[in-house]
Amino acid sequence: MGSILDVRGLYLHFNTRSGVVKAVDGVSITVGRGETLALIGESGCGKSSLARALIRLLPRNIHAFKGQVILDGEDVMTYDERRFREEVRWLKISMVMQAAQSSLNPVIKVGDQVAEPLTVKKGMDKRAAMDEAVKALTLVGIPQEFAERYPFELSGGMRQRAVIAMALITRPQIVILDEPTSALDVLTQTSIMNMLKEIKGRMGLTYIFITHDVATSSELADKVAVMYAGQVVEVSPADKFYPNPLHPYSAKLMATVPTLRADKKLEFIPGTTPSLIDPPKGCRFAERCHFKMDICVEEPPTFNVDGDRLVKCWIYGREHGA
Ligand SMILES: Nc1ncnc2c1ncn2[C@@H]1O[C@H](COP(=O)(O)OP(=O)(O)OP(=O)(O)O)[C@@H](O)[C@H]1O
Ligand SMILES: [Mg+2]
Repeated sequence: MGSILDVRGLYLHFNTRSGVVKAVDGVSITVGRGETLALIGESGCGKSSLARALIRLLPRNIHAFKGQVILDGEDVMTYDERRFREEVRWLKISMVMQAAQSSLNPVIKVGDQVAEPLTVKKGMDKRAAMDEAVKALTLVGIPQEFAERYPFELSGGMRQRAVIAMALITRPQIVILDEPTSALDVLTQTSIMNMLKEIKGRMGLTYIFITHDVATSSELADKVAVMYAGQVVEVSPADKFYPNPLHPYSAKLMATVPTLRADKKLEFIPGTTPSLIDPPKGCRFAERCHFKMDICVEEPPTFNVDGDRLVKCWIYGREHGA
């Protein structure tokens, strides 16, 4: 499976009154064509910021935005805003934004909103775009007649399906799904996850699936990337990650997942996530880590383990002679 997206040394820092927030701080990650990469980590670790950096939907208060985003072999970071808008954003990479369902315009009919990316981005005429919108709505399980309704006439689950239809209508290659089911009840969550799986197969899509919910991530992931304090600390194939997470932080995240087994005590991760304005020197997780060693005052490099796993932790350096 060749890579469709290769992110190298990506930084996105924000200016704030209290200082520079290093939301994405040197992230490198590869996504294979047709793969689902699950991006997991606690609230505030920089998942949405990484997504925004990839699709370049940035706020005004940027302090730094740099690195390489190689899409299909081309570094799109070298594109100016106009070229990126005309060739990449929504066309090759699209995104379902976190809490997007609540950002639907209440006074515009659902069909018109779903059709909008085609009229605006592809200059399609309204009639043809509307036909496509109905197709996209059907694809995500919304009956045709709902195209004529307003967002408030749809359930939360249907609104979420509608924003997914909006992300798919331009037939992108990569879809970033930022917490696409987090605001929904469990049954609705499950049916949307199944729908996403089905559509991915049918359209040959690549997903970047963002969630703070480790259990949900396991339903779609082929590969898992764990973020901590603006950095990626582990990348592993899903079939290796879930039974055996390597980074101490990944292991803690997994231990917080409730199971039906009565003999397993549910854990929480002690301490708080570090400040992204002044992150700890060395390993950023060290203060919360049971395996802390002297060397952890130095920043660990990313070690290759087991051929196809990457771990930013000194434990694996020692094993490998570092
Ligand atoms: N426009 C901005 N200006 C300043 N700081 C920001 C901005 N956007 C995000 N941040 C900060 O960047 C850090 C990472 O935020 P981000 O939203 O990327 O985290 P997240 O992992 O998506 O969290 P969650 O799971 O809660 O969605 C946080 O400290 C957040 O407050
Ligand atoms: Mg987020």
